[in-house]
Amino acid sequence: MKEYDILLRGAEALAMKIDKKPDVAVVLGSGLGEMAQASPIRVDYSLIPGMPRSTVPGHDGAFCMDEVQGKRVLFMSGRAHLYEGYSPAEAVRGVRLMRLAGAEKLILTNAAGAINADFEVGYPVMISGQISSFVPSPLVGENPSALGVRFPDMTEVYSARIRDIARSAFEKRSVKYREGVYLQVTGPQYETPEEINAYRALGADMVGMSTAIEAIAARHAGMEVAGVSFITNRAAGLGGGKLSHEEVRESAERGGELFRSIVRALIAAV
Ligand code: HPA
Repeated sequence: MKEYDILLRGAEALAMKIDKKPDVAVVLGSGLGEMAQASPIRVDYSLIPGMPRSTVPGHDGAFCMDEVQGKRVLFMSGRAHLYEGYSPAEAVRGVRLMRLAGAEKLILTNAAGAINADFEVGYPVMISGQISSFVPSPLVGENPSALGVRFPDMTEVYSARIRDIARSAFEKRSVKYREGVYLQVTGPQYETPEEINAYRALGADMVGMSTAIEAIAARHAGMEVAGVSFITNRAAGLGGGKLSHEEVRESAERGGELFRSIVRALIAAV
């Protein structure tokens, strides 16, 4: 089946459960699913044809609708990753479904390893730009022209407008944050110290296994995008020890409340 037909079937199923246009869509990454737990409307991914479900511990699998900061928010609680074997088109399907549900703004969240020595574990980092050159584009293949053009511009993936408003919101709340460039890899192995050195030389401040392709799909579909990374560890070779998924998960959980407050501030800002 063509990707656009798969999307239309999924969108139809989602529209039966969520019939109001969201003000903003939010993708919740590792350890952040809790933010959507209390939502009055919850639609398990298994009810949406074509919607992939994450197989990773710590990742939920549902669209949730809730009111946050006076805004109607459509959450994607849990995402599918390339390293699980999902194709790039499958991995961005949820974002496109939220676009088809009417969302015009998107907030992406993730856990990331810090390449920039100024970024401490536990810090939120507003994503200012991205490098997706090491992962396949989600736009390869037939272009669903109802969503966007064949050759979309990526000059400003992360909205300067939202970043401006978010900066003032964070400063007003005395929230410590950084800004930086996110580089996506497929994983699932963590990087080598040599790769991290190479990524630093390329201009990356943090590294992770999601988000950049979602941002590409969202921009292709005309959404305004904001992104925030939560630093769960220093990238390979920079922290002294070995990396593990447990460390990443524990850090994400420990910093959960701070991170949720950042996401709430972003929701208010968009
Ligand atoms: N590398 C890749 N992905 C990650 C990391 C990392 O160090 N930390 C959290 N996600």
